[in-house]
Amino acid sequence: MGSNVSELTTYLAYLNGEWQQSESGEKIAIQSPYLRRTIGYVQAVTQNEVDQAIKNAHQAQKEWAGLSLSKRGSYLLAWADELVNNQEEIALAVMHEVGKGYKDSVKEVVRTADLIRYTVEEALHMHGESLRGDGFPGGPQKKIGIVERMPLGVVLAISPFNYPVNLAASKIAPALMAGNAVIFKPATQGSISGIKMIEALDKAGLPKGLLSLTTGRGSVIGDYLVEHKGIDMISFTGGSSTGRHLSKQSAMIPLVLELGGKDPAIVCDDADLDVAVSSIMNGAFSYSGQRCTAIKRVLVNEKVADELVARLKEAVEKLSVGSPEEDSTVVPLIDDKSADFVQSLIDDALAKQATLVAGNKRKDNLIYPTLLDHVTEEMDVAWIEPFGPVLPIIRVKSDEEAIAIANKSEFGLQASIFTQDVDRAFAVAKEVEAGTVQINGRTERGPDHFPFLGVKASGMGVQGIHNSLVSMSRQRVTVLNLK
Ligand code: NAP
Ligand code: G3P
Repeated sequence: MGSNVSELTTYLAYLNGEWQQSESGEKIAIQSPYLRRTIGYVQAVTQNEVDQAIKNAHQAQKEWAGLSLSKRGSYLLAWADELVNNQEEIALAVMHEVGKGYKDSVKEVVRTADLIRYTVEEALHMHGESLRGDGFPGGPQKKIGIVERMPLGVVLAISPFNYPVNLAASKIAPALMAGNAVIFKPATQGSISGIKMIEALDKAGLPKGLLSLTTGRGSVIGDYLVEHKGIDMISFTGGSSTGRHLSKQSAMIPLVLELGGKDPAIVCDDADLDVAVSSIMNGAFSYSGQRCTAIKRVLVNEKVADELVARLKEAVEKLSVGSPEEDSTVVPLIDDKSADFVQSLIDDALAKQATLVAGNKRKDNLIYPTLLDHVTEEMDVAWIEPFGPVLPIIRVKSDEEAIAIANKSEFGLQASIFTQDVDRAFAVAKEVEAGTVQINGRTERGPDHFPFLGVKASGMGVQGIHNSLVSMSRQRVTVLNLK
């Protein structure tokens, strides 16, 4: 597994079923976050090409919607096989492009194939329902309502950099299985991985025009895509500020937003610290904390705080830091701008008298894992999503104080609670404002058939395979009025 990113490839856009250069003649250089050099170029598509792609998508969607579920499924199952057959090549692209450890990149590709296969199975078992008119008081017996699920039309799928394959396919697979066409806008720093993923779908023989991959900077082509009259549903995963912007742009069409997080780990005074320490370490620092579900603050009962901090310090100092090619846990961040942002949060906290327990060391965009204790609510790191390897420790006197601080955040994606008292765990869990609460485990999205949602600034709508199939389709009621 080498970094010999050979002759720099200029990747084509996948428009109307054809791999083609953009009429813009413009190409975007993709930098590798750890090789710190250009590893390839992608197309900057034009508004005209977007118009054409959406027009063709509507045409192709009509025929696709007419296919049987099992026929649609056969293309997706072939896609999953292609992904598995090419997992090394795709994983290399993910590692080079977003700096994710090689093993984690392979896991992402295999996880995606499993997600696609499960999506097909789930759709095959999503049967409609029928209702009797006389089920409602005084309702007519000779009236039967048949409820089916119908596609919405053309779905715009916009994905973030940190899971360029999995978080793209988790939109594309249910959209296609529900009978829609797709316009896929990958994150610029994730476009090459997205292209490799769609090459596999193309090899699987997907009907031409049903899906187009429109590479280009979100700041350039994003609004045009989102406001386009030909888009019938948007599924977006990314930052909360972009998500808020999108929700203003996109008028009156179904919108699912999976956004940022500031997931707390609430450590009660009766917590099993072995479990808490290993879950917090994995939850906070895997892939340098560049996960929306990363643990991004610890709210620890002061009775066990000293021991927890001492054990986290020991664990942080043992973390592997370095190249994704060595599967290091802490790897260089996606770009220098992100590293500057993370460093600014560390500097702000230290300037406001936080205690530096470990870290605060940096080499370019490689930020060493940093543990800050005695963090107070005056410090930005207590509230802001760093998307980097910095973990603030906030000491609390009670579960009530932990809940109050947890809910004071604008975010509400997930939370973890560590206690050996299950009643206490559920009592705290029901008070915390989050889409998901993990008891004695790290915050994470998977397994992918679980509902996945954020509340407050963390999102709108629900993902997770079944919920995605539901959000990318609509009910149609046909009423039989019998004589
Ligand atoms: P981002 O900067 O918000 O970008 C996300 C996607 O939106 C990219 O494809 C981006 O394209 C595109 N975009 C940017 N401006 C747009 C516009 N005006 N219209 C349409 N699309 C536009 O997020 P990121 O840096 O890639 O990902 C990190 C963020 O995503 C973090 O906040 C993280 O918490 C969040 N995230 C959330 C989840 C979740 O499931 N809740 C999962 C992963 C990540 P460009 O790349 O070309 O700018
Ligand atoms: O940030 C990506 C998000 O969806 C996290 O996924 O599985 O790492 O919790 P996971």
